Amino acid sequence: MPRLGVNIDHVATIRQTRGVKYPDPVAAAGIVELAGADGIVCHLREDRRHIQDRDLRLLREVIQTQLNLEMAATEEMVRIALMTKPDVVTLVPERREELTTEGGLDVIRSSRNLKKVIQRLQKGGIRVSLFVDPKKDQIRASEGVEANAIEIHTGRYCDATTPAQADEELKKILDAVGEASHRNLSIAAGHGLNYVNVRRIAEIREIEELNIGHSIIARAVLVGLDLAVREMISLIR
Ligand code: PXP
Repeated sequence: MPRLGVNIDHVATIRQTRGVKYPDPVAAAGIVELAGADGIVCHLREDRRHIQDRDLRLLREVIQTQLNLEMAATEEMVRIALMTKPDVVTLVPERREELTTEGGLDVIRSSRNLKKVIQRLQKGGIRVSLFVDPKKDQIRASEGVEANAIEIHTGRYCDATTPAQADEELKKILDAVGEASHRNLSIAAGHGLNYVNVRRIAEIREIEELNIGHSIIARAVLVGLDLAVREMISLIR
């Protein structure tokens, strides 16, 4: 059974649309842990569009499970990570204009920089995971740069619009898992997973961890809305 890491970025997205103090992703992390999740994931983006530096500091203080910081392999982020000491850093590619992380890292092309960044983080006692597309050459390269883990990008499987396309993308994930499983790499997966598409990924025995964010926060809005409205009615009447 895979562990579940819950990405709480979009709690902060809702807060940032108004520039107020709520909903606080730090409070959300407490609820997520009480509900039994195995870890908290957040992405400190260069543009600080959702998670803020203050969130990361407080999350490090309060989280009792595992903190997985997603970040770009830049000097600024490496410094922040070495100061904050998350349990795991997941290195992701980052483009300012993207809505969300669109593709995996090109580990082959960036191997020199990645190897240096990985070594610095590992020396600081942080495990490093690389977010990669389900491609065998990227997985081999991830072992080459001595990452501790890979997270396989499930976005294309999740975006499939026909069953045949979903099968084709799932096959790529299975092949990638096969490649990683006889290497010195822990295996996680994530991106785009929701209440409909997660089952086939959760069934893959070698995947040790799933990192899921948007669909869980989106569902929380709907499953919590009835109570939230009732509470406001009781307040105003
Ligand atoms: N894993 C990685 C590496 C990501 O960048 C993201 C998105 O921040 C996720 C998992 C979670 O994706 P989603 O929000 O679509 O569940």
